[in-house]
Amino acid sequence: MQILVTGGAGYIGSHTVVELLQAGHEVVVLDNLCNSSPVALERVAQITQRTPRFIQADVRDAAALDALFAAHSIDAVIHFAGLKAVAESVQKPLAYYDTNVSGSIQLLQAMQRAGVFRLVFSSSATVYGLDAPVPYRETMPLGRAANPYGTSKIMVEQLLADLCHSDSRWAVAALRYFNPIGAHPSGLIGEDPSGIPNNLLPFITQVAVGRRDALSIFGNDYPTRDGSCVRDYLHVSDLALGHLKALDVLTQPGLQAFNLGTGQGVSVLQIVQTFERVTGQTIPCIIASRRAGDLPAFWADASKAAQTLGWQAARSLEDMLRDAWHWQSLHPDGFVKKIS
Ligand code: NAD
Ligand code: WQD
Repeated sequence: MQILVTGGAGYIGSHTVVELLQAGHEVVVLDNLCNSSPVALERVAQITQRTPRFIQADVRDAAALDALFAAHSIDAVIHFAGLKAVAESVQKPLAYYDTNVSGSIQLLQAMQRAGVFRLVFSSSATVYGLDAPVPYRETMPLGRAANPYGTSKIMVEQLLADLCHSDSRWAVAALRYFNPIGAHPSGLIGEDPSGIPNNLLPFITQVAVGRRDALSIFGNDYPTRDGSCVRDYLHVSDLALGHLKALDVLTQPGLQAFNLGTGQGVSVLQIVQTFERVTGQTIPCIIASRRAGDLPAFWADASKAAQTLGWQAARSLEDMLRDAWHWQSLHPDGFVKKIS
């Protein structure tokens, strides 16, 4: 198939483009590089020995989308492009709704004009909201999010449901990611956040490589096994493979949601201890106060993806942490060549 990958230069997008190319698909990447580097796509080519087509454009740019669909015979779209920093979304809600919601609407309208009705959407476990019981199951209703980022994902899932209801030509998979970490085993691509990392793993690897002094553990008094928060971490390459499986079910009309996680909860302290064990690095830690908006513990019921998609996360926590460190230690400053 020929797949349009929006946001394909980013962290999850670049890993997915690797898997798509290795599976024999043709790939067109659209990305405005606002949070990624063109070097990521050079590395994708190095890993796969194939070069994805790249169009530097904004997903909100209707003319650029029309030109892309006119120039390429696209069979399906994987839509990663979006803004993802939770705290920033509280400061800049308009930017988040504009990119994540309006951007998705622009893309869907362009797809409709081009007669392309198959979509895989990057959703998030955050759509279950603040009050859902664990483990999260796809049969649970969409919740109420704690921040504009989460609300933007809920809004897009809701509009996708309405769209599929209105027109049976649409076939959409909303993939609800839990906590993707790690990097491609080659060490050539990985997570490269701008500025101070918001997420746990890039913070840990930057401490290990000497860019930060110590990890602040946000709370050790949660009602969990060791007092630190529990999440469902999965390897980014496993997550990438989930997108290929999702493409296979787009023969069926309607919206289908899938949790992509391992089904296992792991605490922050367990992450730190396992990272130290598998890498031999010491991570100085400070116990800090709780971070606003953090839930104590959540993980996936991943059985629907196993049954319907034939997808299961295969890589262990050790693999995730070893690969994250492999990437960071080979590239202490990430991709370096950033456009903006
Ligand atoms: P990322 O920032 O690395 O990748 C997003 C890509 O989209 C970047 O390359 C960025 O330049 C591009 N982009 C942003 N705005 C754009 C625009 N207006 N037009 C074109 N390109 C644009 O993030 P990621 O971690 O790879 O996340 C990918 C998707 O998965 C996002 O939609 C994110 O919300 C979702 N998601 C991520 C996580 C996570 O923990 N990383 C979890 C759940 C869901
Ligand atoms: C993991 C755990 C922190 C940093 C976020 C978004 C979510 C989704 C994935 C997109 C938490 C703790 C972290 C640090 C720490 N993104 N932590 N010190 O918050 O589970 O999920 O990313 O959809 O929507 O909210 O991930 O990596 O930020 O945190 O102690 O310096 O690590 O408290 O328990 P989170 P995270």
